Amino acid sequence: MTERTLDGRVALVTGASRGIGRAIAERLAKRGAKVACVATRAENCAETVAACNALTEGAVAYGVDVADHAAVEELVKTVQKELGGLDILVNNAGITRDQLMLRMTEDDFDRVIDVNLKGTWNFMRAAARPLMKCSGRILNIASVVGITGNAGQANYAASKAGVIGMTRSLAKELAGRGVCVNAIAPGFIETDMTAEIDEQAAENLKGSIPLGRIGSADEIADAADYLLGPGGAYVTGQTLVVDGGLSL
Ligand code: NAI
Repeated sequence: MTERTLDGRVALVTGASRGIGRAIAERLAKRGAKVACVATRAENCAETVAACNALTEGAVAYGVDVADHAAVEELVKTVQKELGGLDILVNNAGITRDQLMLRMTEDDFDRVIDVNLKGTWNFMRAAARPLMKCSGRILNIASVVGITGNAGQANYAASKAGVIGMTRSLAKELAGRGVCVNAIAPGFIETDMTAEIDEQAAENLKGSIPLGRIGSADEIADAADYLLGPGGAYVTGQTLVVDGGLSL
């Protein structure tokens, strides 16, 4: 029986329709939290919401483009009204638009920064006040690529390095109000995002992971469970690398 350590809490998870976001949303519901499941379109979160509600009632689906500052502010207000507050924010929504530098367009660069970096900032700004009132928690999903860099991912690596820097800065800003702000840097995790990588490249990548296998979304949810649960109360400004040793 999982301890319901988050009973009565309200959590908002972006990119909750599938993959890592869905695994984290379900884990939070398993711990007793009511979860606001956010994706580009609310209907894409229907399965996540049903799975969360089976664990803790009160999960609701919302649709927003995380890059849209005004819409994010409105959404955070709506979630507070409809779910009765906001205690936990998980910024997980993210995209890739990989290209080697000379082929990468300005739009490829701007969109990845807008969604991954500005989207994270949009939600942190909109949620800062409610989170300060309840000594809440923020968790940002970065990537090992934000630490190591990766050919063909200058836009993505920059966005994730930015998320790590922003996590540290916000941790310092909000510590006085008891808000812990951390990040997870996943390595190669089996989701729709990585399904796009061709088979040979995936095999090569797997060969470079010391633990010899690709990670699962549930293994990222395990790390989120720690950082967002009672065990994470004295941890802030950190980036927990969960990558099977890939970045060593
Ligand atoms: P995914 O592609 O399976 O899911 C992405 C989610 O983000 C979806 O729910 C989608 O609706 C949402 N989303 C995308 N753009 C959005 C926007 N503009 N507004 C609102 N929602 C939007 O991705 P996956 O693999 O689950 O990744 C989740 C996070 O983990 C991302 O930030 C990704 O960069 C990061 N990550 C993933 C790794 C992997 O190997 N899968 C490795 C390292 C980091």
